[in-house]
Amino acid sequence: GRMVVAVDGPSGSGKSSVCRAAATTLGAAYLDTGAMYRAATWYCLEQEVDLDDHKAVAVAVEELPLNISTNPDHQVITVGESDVTAAIRVALISEKVSQVATNPEARALLIAAQRAIIDREGFIVAEGRDITTVVAPDAQVRVLLTASAEARLRRRGAQLGGTQDDEALRRQVLDRDTKDSAASNFTVAADGVAVLDSSELSFQQTVDSLISRVQL
Ligand code: CDP
Repeated sequence: GRMVVAVDGPSGSGKSSVCRAAATTLGAAYLDTGAMYRAATWYCLEQEVDLDDHKAVAVAVEELPLNISTNPDHQVITVGESDVTAAIRVALISEKVSQVATNPEARALLIAAQRAIIDREGFIVAEGRDITTVVAPDAQVRVLLTASAEARLRRRGAQLGGTQDDEALRRQVLDRDTKDSAASNFTVAADGVAVLDSSELSFQQTVDSLISRVQL
């Protein structure tokens, strides 16, 4: 049968690495929906689309030739012939992505694509901001992965290898929270969604806690 594990959470909650590890252990597929918003943003910038032009962004996302791997151990994202796996992680994309993510038409298109991938896989850990509420509210497991702002800043800093000063990091993580939640409440636990607070948990404890909720 179908087994969908839906996980939402804010920047730096560790959800990508936690979900990837959980998917590997479970033998499930994995979907990073944030990567899809990032790839859409990369494409808009490459096509020199004005991100303030809602219609132009929607048109670009409609024709977006996106391919995203669902193998948790081998994440490759391509747009047309370009491998954008690394390019979508640069600071410029992190800065601009909310402009695409708050475009209702672009969201509708990407949500439809996400649902198609989830339906195709059947057994999948899918993570993002609105998976438990909008993309897959019927998921068997629905978790909001949270962490204190301090824990998230600490982890994102470590992830970037200490290459950014504290102020830049704070701006990147906390400002994007504000931008994201201004448009819709991506990070509020809806009815029936369990909160998993990882602030005081190790990485492996967090993965184990997620896996323990999956009744195969
Ligand atoms: O870098 P971080 O882990 O915080 O974010 P991400 O998962 O790579 O997602 C990047 C951006 O995509 C978020 O800041 C949101 O603006 C947007 N996003 C969204 O709107 N809905 C989702 N389901 C996933 C991401």
